[in-house]
Amino acid sequence: MRLSEISPDTNFVQFNLSDLLDQLGEDEVKVILSSFSCPLNADVERFLREKAIEFSKRGFSKTHLVYWTTQDSKEKEFVGYYTIASKFIAIQRSVVNSKEARKLREHGMFDEKARAYTVAAPLIAQLGKNYTNGNDSLISGSDILQMAIEKVRKVQNEVGGRFVYLECEEKEKLIKFYENNHFKLFGKRKLDRDETDIKGEYLLQYFAML
Ligand SMILES: CC(C)(COP(=O)(O)OP(=O)(O)OC[C@H]1O[C@@H](n2cnc3c(N)ncnc32)[C@H](O)[C@@H]1OP(=O)(O)O)[C@@H](O)C(=O)NCCC(=O)NCCS
Repeated sequence: MRLSEISPDTNFVQFNLSDLLDQLGEDEVKVILSSFSCPLNADVERFLREKAIEFSKRGFSKTHLVYWTTQDSKEKEFVGYYTIASKFIAIQRSVVNSKEARKLREHGMFDEKARAYTVAAPLIAQLGKNYTNGNDSLISGSDILQMAIEKVRKVQNEVGGRFVYLECEEKEKLIKFYENNHFKLFGKRKLDRDETDIKGEYLLQYFAML
């Protein structure tokens, strides 16, 4: 459930990390990022504290910080973030229905041998609430996910595309979260050697058609 639906005065604003770096400078941005904590997911915490700035600068991915504010904007709190990267995915014909297969064919390429479609799709590479000072209670995960999806929609409205995807650890709570938000499982990816903050051997891959 989105908090913004329960409480209509809830206001969220978001800032592109690249814009913040231009406006505030790296030192000040680092202070903001060091106030983020995420005990449930070490990868989500470390990415923001240690990699997000460099990845934003080099264009590997773009991170967006989410703030909760009061209507008069007098109070604001850093409540979470998401990161998006430009990627492509391969989806097996056997895991999609005929409507999805048609869209995948229209937007991508079908490899007869592999029986799979390859299609360009932004990756929601990171997403998490900020648990510092209980700020996680000011937002729900669905609010952040919807903001990430809205961002993808805006970009695709300009450049085309219908698909978005994400990857997550095989944990019941995370699976429920993404399935409740209309994402569909399409595969598993073996972890890279440097993905040491992530438990298990695989990440589950989910896509949605926007
Ligand atoms: C995933 C997330 C955005 C969902 O937010 P939400 O829909 O508001 O849901 P909640 O935070 O209330 O979490 C729901 C349940 O999932 C659990 N959970 C959340 N992330 C988890 C994780 N990474 N590992 C294990 N359990 C997790 C919570 O402890 C909670 O358990 P409970 O029902 O027993 O209280 C948020 O929990 C979060 O920021 N988690 C940490 C970061 C993360 O794992 N991001 C996903 C990366 S793929």
